Amino acid sequence: MSSVPVLTIDGPSGSGKGTLARRVAEKLGWNLLDSGALYRLLALAGSRYGLEPHDEAGHAALAGTMNIRFSGDASGEEQIWLGNDEVSRELRTETAGEGASRVAVMPSVRAALTERQRQFAQEPGLVADGRDMGTVIFPDAPLKIFLTASAEERASRRYKQLKGKGFDVSLAALSQELAERDHRDANRAVSPLKPADDAELLDSTGLSIEQVEQAVLALAKARQLFR
Ligand code: DC
Repeated sequence: MSSVPVLTIDGPSGSGKGTLARRVAEKLGWNLLDSGALYRLLALAGSRYGLEPHDEAGHAALAGTMNIRFSGDASGEEQIWLGNDEVSRELRTETAGEGASRVAVMPSVRAALTERQRQFAQEPGLVADGRDMGTVIFPDAPLKIFLTASAEERASRRYKQLKGKGFDVSLAALSQELAERDHRDANRAVSPLKPADDAELLDSTGLSIEQVEQAVLALAKARQLFR
């Protein structure tokens, strides 16, 4: 495995991993891997190609070949491309999250995405956000964070995030969907959501994003990931 330093951030849906990972990557000037986006892209690509949701071989083949690209626009908003289509808005919906969670239970899909994810480890470093970053994809990472928050707070954060982006969502439906997705992610046979043995557990309930970011940067500094 490469010697590029990797900081992994795993945890359940709505724990704030995505925002935290983006901020820490920006602070450190490191690359970012939003691994959930890869699973979301794969589910979307599968439906566009007319694959049946349970077609494991079809999704595994697509995982290796789908044409995807991540870029930022002038306002700092992330753009995600599937072929020639900019799909970041479509990917944020809970429907896309659920599709991702369903393809993510398939062992050969996960295997097909493993190498693609490891290729994100480029100099000067990588912040990797997901469910199995510390346990499976980057087991040698020098700092692994497992980020949690109460179920109520996670649903309410996701609700505000989606509302803020103009989506019409209900808090009750969202809470239910997140609970189902977490159950599936934590109970699948391959690479289930769980902290690595050497992960730092961080509960962000009641903390601001700034406080969580400070805690992670302090740990990164203590491990000499940066000076
Ligand atoms: O982080 P997210 O909400 O974008 O992830 C969407 C789904 O993708 C999540 O419910 C489970 C799956 N996933 C996974 O299985 N492994 C990862 N490393 C990242 C996401």
